[in-house]
Amino acid sequence: MEQLRAMITGIQGYVPEYRLTNKELEKLVETNDEWITSRTGIKERRILKGENQGSSVMGAAAVKGLLEKTGTDPMDVELIICATVTPDMPFPATANIIADKVGAKKSFSFDISAACSGFLYALQLGAQFIQAGTHKKVVVVGADKMSSIVDYQDRTTCILFGDGAGAVLLEATTSEYGIRDAILRSDGSGEPYLHMKAGGSRKPATHQTVEAREHFAYQEGSTVFKFAVTNMADVSAEVMERNGLTGDDVAWLVPHQANKRIIDATANRMGVGPEKVMMNIERYGNTTAATIPLCLWDYESQLKKGDNLILAAFGGGFTWGSIYVKWAYDPK
Ligand code: UT7
Repeated sequence: MEQLRAMITGIQGYVPEYRLTNKELEKLVETNDEWITSRTGIKERRILKGENQGSSVMGAAAVKGLLEKTGTDPMDVELIICATVTPDMPFPATANIIADKVGAKKSFSFDISAACSGFLYALQLGAQFIQAGTHKKVVVVGADKMSSIVDYQDRTTCILFGDGAGAVLLEATTSEYGIRDAILRSDGSGEPYLHMKAGGSRKPATHQTVEAREHFAYQEGSTVFKFAVTNMADVSAEVMERNGLTGDDVAWLVPHQANKRIIDATANRMGVGPEKVMMNIERYGNTTAATIPLCLWDYESQLKKGDNLILAAFGGGFTWGSIYVKWAYDPK
């Protein structure tokens, strides 16, 4: 039997209307446009406004657009995986809510939690269902409403994050195109440097946890920065090496958008020039699980069949990884 491979056959993103600019942040905390731009590359982020609007609203908008664009009947979708650290609620899974919203009544669905590496983890998981031959159409979503866990009194984190979602459709192929290799890693000793202190089973919500502002993302930025630079570059270089790829063979680096300086360092180490690096951090900031699909969505019209893409991420956990994709279609 020929070996099955999963290929990405469509991509769609969704970002909310509201733009939170650096200028506006200057009114909330002691910061300035020059510091934010030079230290992170971010100019503005999108924020999902309104009551009762969770990550599923953005995830469902992305998936609905994806199914329409690829001419896929929602009833043919067999699996939806949603990567998120900001689920609508602890349970049920946001993927279930998305499946219901888009009419994917015959799918099974679940969430995975791997912070900024969530989309890569979910993509590899989805690909395995296709490769096993058990599922023919799998949707992978990255959706995060980071504004729901960001402390707008903390200047070290509130300038970084934004809201958004992106989704891809995976289908089977026996060709050379598709998801060709993945290296995924995690290290739980990274917990002290990036986490949310309360609201889980270890420290359930109380008046005190709310007053102590413990329901927001906490990050020791400079420590995370050091681990991100080393680990993202290490796995990307490893994936390239074991697939015999040099910087010249790589058409695009698709990095998690946490900090322009981390992205530049990774590209440098891989020998990939800046013209081949997908970047939209200036417009969306760090949307956690959504950064990589939002990049693919933004650059879709420039992607050609056969392009070698290296996807790379690092995030809370710590979690990190790199995936090698041979792009499967020309611009439509
Ligand atoms: O996506 C998940 C993984 N996350 C990441 O990959 C993020 C990794 N970390 C980073 O991107 C960077 O560490 C940050 C952008 C968060 C911070 O940049 P940094 O160059 O590491 O700055 P720092 O934390 O070392 O702070 C330098 C100075 C400090 O002042 P002092 O102590 O030197 O006087 C901070 O208090 O900058 C100050 N600072 C700010 N100043 C103006 C911190 N935040 C701000 C701010 N505006 N918003």
